[in-house]
Amino acid sequence: MRLAPRLVRALGIALAPFALLGIAHAQGFGERIGERIVCFWPDSAARDLAVRAPALFPFLPAPGAPAERGTDFAVRPEFRMQGGGRVVHIETPRGTTLYGTGEVPGGLVRNGRLSVCWNTDAYGYDANSPSLYQSHPWVLAVRPDGSSFGVIAATPGRVTIDLTHGIEFRAQGPVFPVVVIDRPSPQDVVRALADLTGKMPLPPRWAIGFQQCRYSYAPDSEVVRIAREFRARGLPCDVLWMDIDYMDGHKPFTFDPRGFPHPGTLSDTLHARGFKSVWILDPGIKQEPGDFMYESGLHGGHWVTMPDGTPFWGKVWPGGCNFPDFTRAATRAWWSASVLAFAQRSGADGIWNDMNEPAVFEAAGKSMPETAWHRADESLGGAGYHARYHNVYGMLMARASWEGLKARGPERRPFVLSRANFMGGQRWAAAWTGDNRATAGHLAMALPMVLNLGLSGQPFAGPDIGGYAGPIAGEDFAAWMGLGTLLPFSRAHTEKGGIRKEPWSFGPKVEALCRRALQTRYRLLPYLYTVFEEASRTGLPVARPAFFADPAAEWLREVEHEFLIGGDVLVDLRFRPEWKEAKRLSDDPSAWRAATVIPGEPSEALPDLSVRAGAIVPLGPIMNFSGERPLDDVELLVAPDAAGHAEGWLYEDAGDGYGYTRGEFRRTHLVAETHGRTVRVRVDRSEGTWTPPGERKWRVTLLGGQKGAVVEAPAGR
Ligand code: NOJ
Repeated sequence: MRLAPRLVRALGIALAPFALLGIAHAQGFGERIGERIVCFWPDSAARDLAVRAPALFPFLPAPGAPAERGTDFAVRPEFRMQGGGRVVHIETPRGTTLYGTGEVPGGLVRNGRLSVCWNTDAYGYDANSPSLYQSHPWVLAVRPDGSSFGVIAATPGRVTIDLTHGIEFRAQGPVFPVVVIDRPSPQDVVRALADLTGKMPLPPRWAIGFQQCRYSYAPDSEVVRIAREFRARGLPCDVLWMDIDYMDGHKPFTFDPRGFPHPGTLSDTLHARGFKSVWILDPGIKQEPGDFMYESGLHGGHWVTMPDGTPFWGKVWPGGCNFPDFTRAATRAWWSASVLAFAQRSGADGIWNDMNEPAVFEAAGKSMPETAWHRADESLGGAGYHARYHNVYGMLMARASWEGLKARGPERRPFVLSRANFMGGQRWAAAWTGDNRATAGHLAMALPMVLNLGLSGQPFAGPDIGGYAGPIAGEDFAAWMGLGTLLPFSRAHTEKGGIRKEPWSFGPKVEALCRRALQTRYRLLPYLYTVFEEASRTGLPVARPAFFADPAAEWLREVEHEFLIGGDVLVDLRFRPEWKEAKRLSDDPSAWRAATVIPGEPSEALPDLSVRAGAIVPLGPIMNFSGERPLDDVELLVAPDAAGHAEGWLYEDAGDGYGYTRGEFRRTHLVAETHGRTVRVRVDRSEGTWTPPGERKWRVTLLGGQKGAVVEAPAGR
């Protein structure tokens, strides 16, 4: 139902007193905050009285500012009180499909699901676990006609997202607004979400290479052995990870004097072999007099406290710990400075923030009590109970780590991976989906989880490839690698005490499949980096659901056996038996052209790739690591459409640093046109001032198109 704006305005005001009394099912008071974006409050009085947290929700209108009412919206949230809690209900038209809700297990489609935004250490979670490590109070809705809307519940507190009958948010605590974006397509809505909540900065190029982890590679000689194996076996890899056993007694910011006596030398050794290193830092600081982090945290007054002002104490890996209060800029600055010093000493290229829900052992809810006390800055909403700040604790920690790495200077882009996070946290950290299991069910869930994170504003995500918990058979590991090497964040990891999960751990046959999967990723790197750059500018996901190809096509809405990388590459998965006969986008060769990136025997473990008709996809040479050599040999996969036309982009820059923000990049627009039997591919134009080093050879591979076509490749750089 569409109401005339004047009537709506009148209703907004007329219902306000009822809502205050908690009686009415009030259609909220709406205020336009952007193009087809409206912020709804239960009523106008609530709007003026509510606690704002500009640092968390910079898009909310400032209190007292004149409201620009704009409420001719089909989407009308309904606010009510129920059992002392707040309920916001949004009707959805019949046939609407729901997505998003952040890091959630189970399938891609969220209709009928219930999840709770409450960051939780969820080791070995299952398809129905209500809360995982990160919180995104956000739902993306796609109507039957492919038009779309999205809804943010703008509160950091615990929120239940109930999608069993329309969209419903339920929460205790202070009043919060709901922001509705209503746009012609889901792509438009996701872009608008990123405009509101922030975009992933362009990561350093090495961070989109493959990465290998284990809890733990220790001592340092073991790390070097793993590095050597990768190179000796010709398995591409960019990063090795240091889990907690590099520390002295698991104390963050320390080094085991026996196992890792010279961390900087270790990093130098890795660098010399073309590896970057990422080192873990947890928030729990051991309460140990003499420990420098403990002493400086104590004297700086940096701990989260109990309401009586005594520091909160809880057990994590090192034993009894205190926890930094990241809701304070002063504490974040202290942490950032410590991270900077740590990175300088260890040579760490990136930082891994773990256990930052925060996880607390032997504690109710596996975290600190909701009554713990934060002396939060006013810009976050001021001092308050942990209940209010729980969901943003991990994000603020990641932010502090990011800022520490940023202080290394303009030559290096920070890379942080964080287990806990919150909507908007893509500005500071990539995500992995926590402690999954090495089961078929988890393999099937990995893609939908990454896709829903992407639809919630976090484009840089991936699972622990091979499954964190439990053993796995070789052919299943190959299937994990087949999928995982095509996801935005690509890292194999496994828990302590379990079997080895390196690509060579399962014998030569599996190793060969892993090599092909890895080589496929490295061939795709120029395209992948182009897509990452687009994501950093627009907020569009890197890995996109199949329905992005045609949001009005009903059959695509639930598809989990195909997905898109950017707009032009389609990935086809076959590792589940029930997918063998499934309908696919790639069944239509006039729309999607099969592409061979690495030749080899067909294997169900490894996905098939195709390129959209009308697109050009740039591939690079196989490398051991992303920066091994310049992009001197570019193969263009050209898939002409029915008119013989195709176009595509290649984005390049120095791969690190901030020169690209001053125009030091090259964005090349490639065009293919067919004239008679000749397909001519040319550089249409290029933007930016960066010049790729060395010579460049362009090669063209035609996918489909005319038989016997003569191909002309671009000339020059
Ligand atoms: C929990 C993390 O989820 C896991 O990835 C890590 O290996 C362990 N903590 C040990 O640091």
